[in-house]
Amino acid sequence: MAQSSAPILSILWAWYRQYGRRLPWRVAPGDVPPDDHAYRVLVSEIMLQQTTVATVLSRYGPFLDRFPDLPTLAAAGANEVRDAWAGLGYYRRAGLLQACAQSVMEHHGGAFPQKAAQLAKLPGLGAYTSAAIASICFGEAIMPMDGNIERVVARLEAFKEPLPKEAAKLRKKAQKYVMGVDTGHVAQAFMDLASSHCGANSTNCPTCPLQKLCPVQGPDALKIPQKQMKKPPIEVTWHLLLTHDGQRVIMERRGPGGIMAGMLGFPVVDGPPLGAYYAGSITHRLTHRMITAHVYLLKWDQQTDKTAPAIVKDCNRATLKQLPTLMRKVAERSGLFKV
Ligand code: ADE
Repeated sequence: MAQSSAPILSILWAWYRQYGRRLPWRVAPGDVPPDDHAYRVLVSEIMLQQTTVATVLSRYGPFLDRFPDLPTLAAAGANEVRDAWAGLGYYRRAGLLQACAQSVMEHHGGAFPQKAAQLAKLPGLGAYTSAAIASICFGEAIMPMDGNIERVVARLEAFKEPLPKEAAKLRKKAQKYVMGVDTGHVAQAFMDLASSHCGANSTNCPTCPLQKLCPVQGPDALKIPQKQMKKPPIEVTWHLLLTHDGQRVIMERRGPGGIMAGMLGFPVVDGPPLGAYYAGSITHRLTHRMITAHVYLLKWDQQTDKTAPAIVKDCNRATLKQLPTLMRKVAERSGLFKV
């Protein structure tokens, strides 16, 4: 039988007021949103697309300090934006976020469109992110369906069909939860419930505020939503060369396409370099790739090496901060960096 939304929303709302997470991009129920609410939410939502709340929390503040408003982000250098993205992964997002800011400046006079359908035309904004901004910032009656909200709604609705194949059917069922007021708070309450009680691999049904109204509990809940088989990740092997003089190391900016595009990194070479010291190997999982990185150190002989390297960085904490996570792990493994 289909769920009625009113009792669920009434309990969820009371729970969210008391236990909802206070996050730097959020406006608590009853508080007045700042003028730049949409910009703050845009940045957070793009960061949160593939990255955990814990990681975003450590990067969001410094990013906003550096790019405090839409015009500043739109006018910044692309490399500066990318470097501020270090540690968040999926580096293409940095360029897309900036392209989105530029598009709002150029085509909308600096004011965000308010409907999800219009937002979805901006660079980097898919169905989920557009719906999140439209509901959270502009009160549109649309549920942002990411994996977390899908999971909670699927369980409340005892939805046994496979995702993503039947995602459109589930989205229709979710709409009834955002037909009233405060749609953005409702969406964020679902996100918080997903995080605190209704995980993908663990549930805490006995303490869940919706326990009495939820048709699936405990082990049965874990079987919902039914996921289609994912492809195994592609195995990638990298040999990374750290040419150094003890204080400084040669780096490069990665090319515009592919893994960690445009980010700073250590050069990837064809195989174990002659005369280099092997410092160990690191594995790093991306969504579709499993990278095994072999790390080699080579003493940089500036007396005989007449070719000027493109990028030389000090082996210190400031450099580490600019590196994508795998490169940072490699730097730490090399033992060269004093932190
Ligand atoms: N994940 C995506 N958007 C979020 C938000 N606004 N709050 C918490 N987690 C999120």
